[in-house]
Amino acid sequence: MAAQIRSKDAIPDQAYRKMVLTLMDKQAGREVATAEVFGQCVLYAPTVEDKIRITRFQHEELKHFQLIARLMAELGVDMDAYVRDRQKAGARFTGDEADIQIQDWIDATLFNFMIDRAATFQLSEYTRGSYVPLAEANRVILKEEEGHKNFGEACLEEMTRDEATRAEIQRRFKKWFVASIRIFGRAKTPGNQYCIDVGLKTRDSGDIAAAYLDSIRLVMARCGLRFPDRSELPLELPPQVDLTVSQPALAR
Ligand SMILES: [Fe+2]
Ligand SMILES: [Fe+2]
Repeated sequence: MAAQIRSKDAIPDQAYRKMVLTLMDKQAGREVATAEVFGQCVLYAPTVEDKIRITRFQHEELKHFQLIARLMAELGVDMDAYVRDRQKAGARFTGDEADIQIQDWIDATLFNFMIDRAATFQLSEYTRGSYVPLAEANRVILKEEEGHKNFGEACLEEMTRDEATRAEIQRRFKKWFVASIRIFGRAKTPGNQYCIDVGLKTRDSGDIAAAYLDSIRLVMARCGLRFPDRSELPLELPPQVDLTVSQPALAR
């Protein structure tokens, strides 16, 4: 097992420091971006209770940002400039801001169900990572993300009871699927291997993406939704990713 790095002063070399900063940079960007996209979601939340809940999530994402920002600042990053110069929300996820534009409550639900969840899945990996300050921060973050995840699931299940809404969700699903898979990055890269070697990650991106889809497969089945076919997708999926969903046809 790779050595545990208990504080910034124990960072062994430049390569490790650079990779820790890269991982935190990606996460911090997504925490801010998620808060901003939740800001769009609030507009379409159907009830006041939902609006309150989404604004609470938004607040939590900004607190997550602060937790990571503190660690980045310790390593010398100017976090005020980071916030000022940030890219627009959606660009933090896919590089293209237009990808994540929330137009209604269906988009908001798919964002919460797919993107926030994928981002959480990615950082749950860091809770087992060798940089202890990052692992500890993410253990705190993960507790709140559990609530976001449950809400996304509940909204999706509720909405897919209506057949027309379910068809519309299925129609839009591919876009959100692609954006969520991009969060895990390409599989089998030298960067991935380095992270595994020094214990910053325990698994390759392909395995994390596969586990993420495993975690939503049953919800998909309950909602009567399916994953897109490999042939429809504009990205190469790692071979271990399983796109089957067995529909409990009689249950519906
Ligand atoms: Fe978060
Ligand atoms: Fe979240």
